[in-house]
Amino acid sequence: MAGTEDAYTAEPFVPRRGGLPALRAAAADCRGCPLHRDATQTVFGAGQASARVMLVGEQPGDQEDRQGKPFVGPAGHLLDRALAEAGIDPADAYVTNAVKHFKFTRAEPRKRRIHKAPTLREMTACGPWLAAELDRVQPELIVVLGATAGKALLGSSFRVTRVRGTVLEEEIHGRPERLVPTVHPSAVLRADDREGAYRGLVSDLKVAVRALG
Ligand code: URA
Ligand code: SF4
Repeated sequence: MAGTEDAYTAEPFVPRRGGLPALRAAAADCRGCPLHRDATQTVFGAGQASARVMLVGEQPGDQEDRQGKPFVGPAGHLLDRALAEAGIDPADAYVTNAVKHFKFTRAEPRKRRIHKAPTLREMTACGPWLAAELDRVQPELIVVLGATAGKALLGSSFRVTRVRGTVLEEEIHGRPERLVPTVHPSAVLRADDREGAYRGLVSDLKVAVRALG
């Protein structure tokens, strides 16, 4: 059952039929795991069903939680800049997250909300939404942004440092997919050598551009 201790899953909330708008509307009421309780709203993916490339991040951050759209905060601004530099029009990409609700802690009541990484259990619970997005969009290429997205799509043995900037071919939810993993834009913002980390992100995204042809 959804919402019980041992079986968190979005599955009963995901409509079998309908396009992205139907999915988005249903996701707004998802109670598949406890993360919906403290977050402001579901942050579903954004973009056209005709998008050739799907970008998958971790989970919404503070700004995304307030605005209800993925990658609209500082990490999103950096990502948009990197995409444009690599030659991907952000408007041509479908952008989403492995987990659709913001997970956070507060050091003190009413203080700033601090991002907390989702657990494997929460990623697994939210997986049916990502599977449904892949089914409706059928992208030619998936750009995997960081370790959480990688584990959600490719399993817990995924290591971003080992496979970043390469084209992987894997079966995901029964469909053969091509994926290009790279670092998460938030990791670029936190890096000591921010410029070097940014160049690395752009160079991985260029691999994605070449793979799209
Ligand atoms: N980080 C993510 O992984 N996703 C967002 O939407 C914003 C920040
Ligand atoms: Fe549903 Fe995912 Fe939100 Fe959990 S995080 S309530 S599974 S949409």
